[in-house]
Parts: sequence; structure tokens; C-alpha cells
Amino acid sequence: MGTVSVHGLCKSFGEVQALDGVTLDVPDGAFFVVLGPSGAGKTTTLRAIAGLEKLDAGSVHLDERDATGDTPAARDLAMVFQSYALYPRHTAYENIASPLRARRCSSSEVAAAVEQVSSLLHIERLLQRRPAQLSGGEMQRVALARALVRRPRAFLMDEPLTNLDLKLRVEMRTELTRIHRSLGGTFVYVTNDQVEALSMADQVAVLKEGKVQQVGTPTEVYERPANQWVAGFVGSPRISLLACHVEGDRLVGAEGWTLPRPRWTTVEDGRPLLLGVRAEDLSVEQRGNASLSGELYGLEPLGDRTVVDVRVGTKILKVKARPTVTGTPGERLLVTVDLDRAHLFDADTGLALSEAGR
Ligand SMILES: Nc1ncnc2c1ncn2[C@@H]1O[C@H](COP(=O)(O)OP(=O)(O)O)[C@@H](O)[C@H]1O
Ligand SMILES: [Mg+2]
Repeated sequence: MGTVSVHGLCKSFGEVQALDGVTLDVPDGAFFVVLGPSGAGKTTTLRAIAGLEKLDAGSVHLDERDATGDTPAARDLAMVFQSYALYPRHTAYENIASPLRARRCSSSEVAAAVEQVSSLLHIERLLQRRPAQLSGGEMQRVALARALVRRPRAFLMDEPLTNLDLKLRVEMRTELTRIHRSLGGTFVYVTNDQVEALSMADQVAVLKEGKVQQVGTPTEVYERPANQWVAGFVGSPRISLLACHVEGDRLVGAEGWTLPRPRWTTVEDGRPLLLGVRAEDLSVEQRGNASLSGELYGLEPLGDRTVVDVRVGTKILKVKARPTVTGTPGERLLVTVDLDRAHLFDADTGLALSEAGR
């Protein structure tokens, strides 16, 4: 068993409310990602689970037992920090072995466990080096190995890939999912990188200003964002948002455009809304009758695709296009909108409109 549940976590640091009623349920064996921008309360949430933070309110349950008052050691969790925090004078081997030595394992048990985790992380040939003789990526692997050498109730990881260069980050994403599959433990993984979250998680909790915005699978969070903020934070290029309202069978933009009213919505006329459309649901090739007129603002070639920036009124829409697309800034363009895949948000609350009928 390795379930982790927190309920109603609140924590202030002076004026700053770092956590404002955080509730999460992490199932046994999950790769659970807490995603949010810097300052959202991710580290504080992990520290609360680990028992390193005194809470103003709320409870922590481990394996369905109330552990709120337990010491960090009694919780039996392994934490990987963003900084590697290796012992500088010890070899990689000694660093990895240290949690087992602290638990007085025999040296043959230690050797077997270090060997196993080193092969999982492909660091066998680094074991006799000291941290100063390792690259950043190698140190990160050693720090991960030190956490993974034990079989704790759950692993808590605080942005463990942040200090790596892009190529290594991408590699380690795949590695970590592979390690999770082969170890089978519960991972609570914190990141501000939405690509990391979408590519690694079974479940994502999106956190903003100490409040959980949405919990769901990566697909749910991407395809059915609970509110305008989640829609904007998850996905690259950023979702385009346009102020509008419904009038009969038309969607009327604040900037003067009109589109057919999406079939799936039953919202009343006149209510202030935001239409949200992702770049892949917009097209500069003409197909269908739902289109907006704008002018080419810029082209962003990304190799496998080009993002076309189109100005509609005062707004810039991000449109995903073929890499061969060409154009001159200022030329008129029609942008086709896939309304079946578009989102509508209440402009006042930011909440997604219910999507009955989709
Ligand atoms: N020990 C502390 N003292 C004062 N403020 C803190 C402390 N720890 C965190 N905070 C504040 O609480 C908020 C949440 O911090 P944190 O949990 O570290 O966010 P994240 O990990 O998502 O970037 C931030 O505004 C941060 O400045
Ligand atoms: Mg943090």
C-alpha cells in the first residue's frame, strides 16, 4: 500500500497564504504530478506530506491512517529535492547507500540494493566518483538513486529535472516513467513544466496560489480544462481566448466577428463569455464555414510545424500550420475554427461552461 491523501491543507508564511485548502488523493502506485507556476505552493504541499512543515489546518493520511502528527522519519517517505543535496566528500556509492546504512542494513544487503538501483539508472560506472567529479545530470541520477534505493511508502519529488539541460530532461522524463513502471511505487512529483506533467503523469493536480484548480488525467486537463486559467497554463502554444457572447444561433465577438453558435452549448444570450481555441483546432487552410477574418502577424517555424500568428481585431491567435506555410505580414487571412473542439468560459468566473451535449 502507498496511498497519500491530504485534506484541507492551509499554511501561511506571514502575509503569504502558501496553501489555501489543498485536498488531494493519490492512489497507490500512481505517478501523480502536482503542476503549477512558481509560488503556487507545490514545495509547501510536498513538505507538508513529508512532515517538514507545521500546518495551520488540514490533515495528512498515509495508507488511510492519520499521519498528521507523525515525525518525518515515522512517515517512511523518500524525498528528492530540486537541489541534489549530495554529501560532497562521499563517493556516489556511499551517497546512494546512506539511507540504507542509516537503517542498519547489512553490507551485503546494501551492496545488492545499490547495484540494482545503479543499473536501473545506468550509473554503474560512476559509483566510485565524488560529486565534484560528476556532471549535473549525473549528480541528479545519483540523487534519484539515493531516494530509490529504499522501498518507502511513497516517493516525493520536487522538480528533480529542473537543473538539467533540455536534452537530458527529455531523456530523464522517459527514464523516470520507465523506473516508475519497474519499481511500481507511488510517486508524487512536483513540476512547473506542463510538458513534463502531461507526458509523465497518470493524474495531474493543477495548483495556483495555494488552491487546487483541477485534478484529472493529462487528457482531461488538456481537453476539458476546468477554467480559463488551466486552459491557458496547460498547452503550448497558449490557447487563444476571445471575448464574445451568444445571440440566437450566432457567437458574436467583442471585436465584431461572428461564428455559428457551437452546437453543444445551451448558454443564454448576452452572457459575457470567452471562446478558447487551441492552435491545433485553428487552421489557415479553408475548410468549413466557421471562420474569422484577420491579418498575418508573424510566422514561427518550429521544424515539424509552423505557428502562424494571426491578428483578429486587437487579439493575436496562435494557429498551428504545416511547416511549408508562407505569407507576408499584413496580408488578409481566414482562420477556420473547429467549434466542436472549442471551449467556452464564463468571462466573470473563468469557469468552463458545462458541456452537456458534446
Ligand atoms: N519558509 C518560507 N517563508 C516565507 N514564505 C515562504 C516560505 N516558503 C514558501 N513561502 C512562500 O509561499 C508561497 C508558496 O511557496 P512554494 O510552496 O515554495 O511554491 P512553489 O514550490 O510552487 O514554487 C510562495 O509565495 C513563497 O514565497
Ligand atoms: Mg518549489
